[in-house]
Amino acid sequence: MAGGVVATGGGTHHEGKITLFVIVTCIVAAMGGLLFGYDLGITGGVTSMDQFLLKFFPNVYIQMKDQSGVHHHSQYCKFDNPLLTLFTSSLYLAALVASFFASSITRIMGRKISMFIGGIFFLVGSLLDAFAVNVAMLIIGRLLLGFGVGFCNQSVPLYLSEMAPPKIRGALNIGFQLMITIGILIANLINYKLAKIKNGWRFSLGIGAVPAIILCLGAIFLDDTPNSMIERGKQEKARKMLQRIRGIDNVDEEFQELVNASEEAKKVDNAWKNIIEAKYRPQLVFCSLIPFFQQFTGINVIMFYAPVLFQTLGFGSNASLMSAVITGGVNVVATIISIFSVDKFGRRILFLEGGIQMLLCQIAVGAMIAKEFGVSGVGSFSKGEVNLLLFFICAYVASFAWSWGPLGWLVPSEICSLEIRSAGQAINVSVNMLFTFIIGQVFLMMLCHLKFGLFFFFGGFVVIMTIFIAFFLPETKNVPIEEMNSVWRSHWFWARFIPQDMVNSHAHLQDL
Ligand code: BGC
Repeated sequence: MAGGVVATGGGTHHEGKITLFVIVTCIVAAMGGLLFGYDLGITGGVTSMDQFLLKFFPNVYIQMKDQSGVHHHSQYCKFDNPLLTLFTSSLYLAALVASFFASSITRIMGRKISMFIGGIFFLVGSLLDAFAVNVAMLIIGRLLLGFGVGFCNQSVPLYLSEMAPPKIRGALNIGFQLMITIGILIANLINYKLAKIKNGWRFSLGIGAVPAIILCLGAIFLDDTPNSMIERGKQEKARKMLQRIRGIDNVDEEFQELVNASEEAKKVDNAWKNIIEAKYRPQLVFCSLIPFFQQFTGINVIMFYAPVLFQTLGFGSNASLMSAVITGGVNVVATIISIFSVDKFGRRILFLEGGIQMLLCQIAVGAMIAKEFGVSGVGSFSKGEVNLLLFFICAYVASFAWSWGPLGWLVPSEICSLEIRSAGQAINVSVNMLFTFIIGQVFLMMLCHLKFGLFFFFGGFVVIMTIFIAFFLPETKNVPIEEMNSVWRSHWFWARFIPQDMVNSHAHLQDL
């Protein structure tokens, strides 16, 4: 999942059917996740298309095609161009800026308006990019898409978790992440199909307008969540809404809980002040470090630049796009595996297994590239080596997708109790967006300078983060939010920050 506040675990089990209304709502809201994934995955393929490069980045094109042997350019530096990377990374900078005001708009004006605004940004951004005549237009389009991401990542997960019956809320958290990976896969497939037609890149960039329209229409026709109505003082409307979405008349108990939760939330208005208190040190540390580490696994090197990377390594342009489809497919399947394993094996096992597997794959990929391309960057892979390399990259993507991918969002959201939740989530989302931007922006430059060593660089971070998890993250599987304090209290390191009287003292705070 990529942002927003999703309540997980805890919660009372109320009666309530999974009504058609809830299903339609979820489909429409899920378009937000799909759009994010689509816009994340589409640029890698587009930036490897000849016609696109010729039009906007002719120098990169010439560098790429220079097989004459006269210049003997290092393969590592073929795509090193800051404007080209800005086309990909600017989205995250805009998302970071937008999420600052998107959270207030989502709270004050409701989830629906925020989703609608996000949808309009997605729509206009896709159209600007599809009809772009110069680089400025391309980048402005990406900035607008980034605003769309900022708004939708605040409102969509919240909308989904508030509309769904409590018993399927936890699954929705990873469900949103799944939609992102499906969006990335669709983008890879579309690039693969459209690369062969004239100006295919325009269609690749424009197709994002379709889910954007569905999202906008949905936001116009669907109602806001009962929680948001209560928050804005519309109690009676909220009760009717709850009856409608649950498909039953007697919703008294759940309604009362929502009202109580809203009252509690008003009392804890200073989440920022709370989170810096010593007793919330574990949450502050995890909400800052988990997103940082998630990005330093290096995953977005593959998600953003797989086709470019594959071309760098001498794959043909068709094979590069096909390889991106394969890694995209592995990403979806492994995320589904994670949905079934996370409550069974627990977070720690997934984190630790994922870390070790990622590291082994990074060492293998780095070593293979070192052997064929060395420091000079001149070389090529045989057919067998290409397949082996692709295998290691897929194994790496799979290990990320069942560990740091979904858990990078799930763990920060489930460890924060109500009095710090909004601040914890804001830190998590902004740190994530900031480092996604930085990695997106500097990857091609780093590849040019660090060469095969880049894979060892990210591998080094994976070692650090895996050790960090092993020593510092307690298991949070099946721990209701109100019992989280006793988990910290019995941890060898965090115990020193948690006063004894804090254990169970927050049991009254309902999970929103
Ligand atoms: C990360 C994204 C990444 C995606 C890949 C998410 O959890 O936050 O940066 O691109 O997973 O599936």
